[in-house]
Amino acid sequence: MATPHIACEPGDIAPLVLMPGDPKRAERIAKECFSDVKLVSDVRGIGAWTGTFDGVPMTAMASGMGVPSLSIYATELYSQYGVERICRVGTCGGISSNVKVKDVIIAVSAHTNSSVATIDVPGLTIAPAASFDMLRGAVDQARGAGKTVHVGSVYTSDFFYSSRMDIVPALDRIGTLGVEMEAAGLYACAAAHGKEALAVLTVSDHLKDGSADLTAEERETMFADSLQAAVAGLTA
Ligand code: HPA
Repeated sequence: MATPHIACEPGDIAPLVLMPGDPKRAERIAKECFSDVKLVSDVRGIGAWTGTFDGVPMTAMASGMGVPSLSIYATELYSQYGVERICRVGTCGGISSNVKVKDVIIAVSAHTNSSVATIDVPGLTIAPAASFDMLRGAVDQARGAGKTVHVGSVYTSDFFYSSRMDIVPALDRIGTLGVEMEAAGLYACAAAHGKEALAVLTVSDHLKDGSADLTAEERETMFADSLQAAVAGLTA
C-alpha cells in the first residue's frame, strides 16, 4: 500500500510519530535515539524512520515547512497509517518578552492566518488546540526535570517573511508566546481525524531582540530538552 506521499505498509509506521520540520533532523532523531531503526519510506526526501524509543515503537518523520506540507503528511498518517498521536518538535520565534532564546514552549493552542482554521466549518474560526493528555505528559516531564517551559498559545503563520509585522504587538498583548508555521495545521488535522497532537517548540530567535546566534552546543542541549518533553507527550 502507498499514499501519494508515503510509500510503505500501514504496519511500517508506529502509532506514535515524532515530527520535526527538517528531514535531516528526523533522520538524526531516529539514528541517535531509536533502536532497531528502519527507513520505511522516502518519498520526496521525507524519510519515515521507524524504531523503538525506550522499547516503545515510534516513527520519526518530517513535516516539511508550513501548514500545507505538514497537513499532507499528517492527513495520510492519521487516515491511512493508523497513527494516533503526532508530536511536532520544532523551533519558533519568540514574541512574548517572557520567553528567551533556548526556552521551550509547549503550545496549548495556535492562532493562525491559515485557512485551515476557517475552511472545515463554514462561518466560524475553529480553535486549533493540543491534546490535553499529551500536553500534560510533556509539561510534567519538562517541569519535573527542572526545565524552563512556557505553556500557552503560539501563532502559526503562513509567512516566514511577513509584510504584517505590525500585528506582532497585538499578538503579544493577548499572550501569544511565539511564532512558527505548522502547529495550527497539525492541531486542526488531528481534530478532523479524531486523533491527538502536540507541538513542543524551542525558541530559536526572538522577534523583539533580533536573532541571538546559538552555539552548536546550545542547539544540541535545547534540542535534547524539547525531544524529551515530546517523547513524554507521545507516551503519556
Ligand atoms: N517565524 C516563523 N517561523 C519561525 C520563526 C519565525 O521567526 N523562527 C522559527 N520558526
